[in-house]
Amino acid sequence: MVNVSFQILVFALCTTLLIVRTQSQGHIGLSKKHVPLFIFGDSIYDAGNNNYINTTVMANYWPYGETFFKYPTGRFSDGRIIPDFIAEYAKLPFILPFLQPGNHEFTYGVNFASAGAGALVETRQGMVIDLHTQLSYFESVTKSLRRKLGDEEAKALLSRAHASILLSEEFVGMVVGNITAVIKEVYKKGGRNFGFFSIWPIACIPFGRVLERRKTGACLDEITPYVTLHNKAFPKVLESLQNELDGFRYSFSEFHDFLKERMDHPSKYGFEEGKVACCGSGPYRGFFSCGGKRGVAEYELCDNVTEYVFFDSAHATERLYRQFAKQFWAGPAYSTAPYNLKALFESKY
Ligand SMILES: *[C@@H]1O[C@H](CO)[C@@H](O)[C@H](O)[C@H]1NC(C)=O
Ligand SMILES: *[C@@H]1O[C@H](CO)[C@@H](O)[C@H](O)[C@H]1NC(C)=O
Ligand SMILES: *[C@@H]1O[C@H](CO)[C@@H](O)[C@H](O)[C@H]1NC(C)=O
Repeated sequence: MVNVSFQILVFALCTTLLIVRTQSQGHIGLSKKHVPLFIFGDSIYDAGNNNYINTTVMANYWPYGETFFKYPTGRFSDGRIIPDFIAEYAKLPFILPFLQPGNHEFTYGVNFASAGAGALVETRQGMVIDLHTQLSYFESVTKSLRRKLGDEEAKALLSRAHASILLSEEFVGMVVGNITAVIKEVYKKGGRNFGFFSIWPIACIPFGRVLERRKTGACLDEITPYVTLHNKAFPKVLESLQNELDGFRYSFSEFHDFLKERMDHPSKYGFEEGKVACCGSGPYRGFFSCGGKRGVAEYELCDNVTEYVFFDSAHATERLYRQFAKQFWAGPAYSTAPYNLKALFESKY
C-alpha cells in the first residue's frame, strides 16, 4: 500500500539542506543592500520545484497549503516551510523555486530544492532534481548574474555563503563525501556562509512507526544508528572544512533533539499531538497518503492543524517549522553553532 520503500524515505529525508547566502553591495539596479539566499535540499526545503518535473513526489494538491497560502504551492506542509521563515527574518521576499516559469531576477537568491532528492545521484534518479543537478543550476545562475552585473559585482554578490546538512544509512561516507564536494563547488563560486542542521529522528516520524511491523507504534530503530553516526560525523566535517577553506563560515543547528523533545512533550511547546500526523491514513496516520493522490485515495485530515507537530506522515507543520526556524536564526550556542543565521546574515564580511 505504501509504494515508497523505506530505503527511499531514508534517503529522501537525509538529503543535504544547504542554504547559500551571499552579500550584495548595491550597484546599478541593486540600490538596496540585501543578502540573497540560495537554497539546496529536499522536501523540507522544496517550495515547488517538483511541480515542474515529471515526478510523483508532489504536494501540489489540497490539503497541502491549506493554512497560510490557502492553496497548494508544492510545499510539503500545511503552510510555510523553513526557508520561508528564514527569508522573512532576513527581510527578503519569498525565495522562488528555480523551475517556476517567469523571469527570475536571482538577486534575492533562488530555491533549487527538490522533494525526494538525495545527496547521491542514484536516489530516485529521474524523479527528482538531485543535488548535483541543483549545483549545476546554481552554476547557471552565477553565470547569469555575471552577465547581468559584471564579474566584480557578481563576485561581491556571491561573497558570503552558509549551509545545513542531514544524512545517514550505509552510505554515510559517500553521502558526506558528495555533500562536501558540493560545498566546495559553491565555495569556489564565491559562497562563504552556509547553514546546516542535523537529521531529525526519522525512525520515529509517523512513517517510521508504520513501517516498524514488529510492534505497532514503535520506532524503526534500524535506522537510528545511521542517524546518530551522521549527526556525529557531519559537524566534524564542517569543522575541518572551516580549517581548510579560508573564510568558510557556517551555522549548524540541532534539529534532532529539538524535534524529539516536541514529539515526546508536545504540550510544553504548545502542541497537543507530537506523534500522530494531521493528514494521512493508518496508525499514527503514518501512511503517506495525504491528499489521496499517491495511489491511496482514502485519508484522514485533522480538524486543527496547529495542534500537531507533523502535518503528513513525513513532514512537519508550519508551526513546527516556524519554531525551528527561530532557533536556526537566533538560537543560542548550545543549539546553533558556531554562528546562528542571524550572525551570518548581519556580518560585514
Ligand atoms: C514521466 O515518468 C514516467 C515514469 O518514469 C514515464 O513513464 C513517463 O513517460 C514520463 N512522462 C514524460 C512526459 O516524460
Ligand atoms: C558520491 O556518490 C557517488 C555515488 O553517487 C560515489 O560513487 C562517489 O564515490 C561519491 N563521492 C564522494 C566524494 O564520496
Ligand atoms: C486550534 O488549536 C490551537 C492550539 O491548541 C488553539 O489555540 C485554537 O483555539 C484551536 N482552534 C480551533 C478552531 O479550535
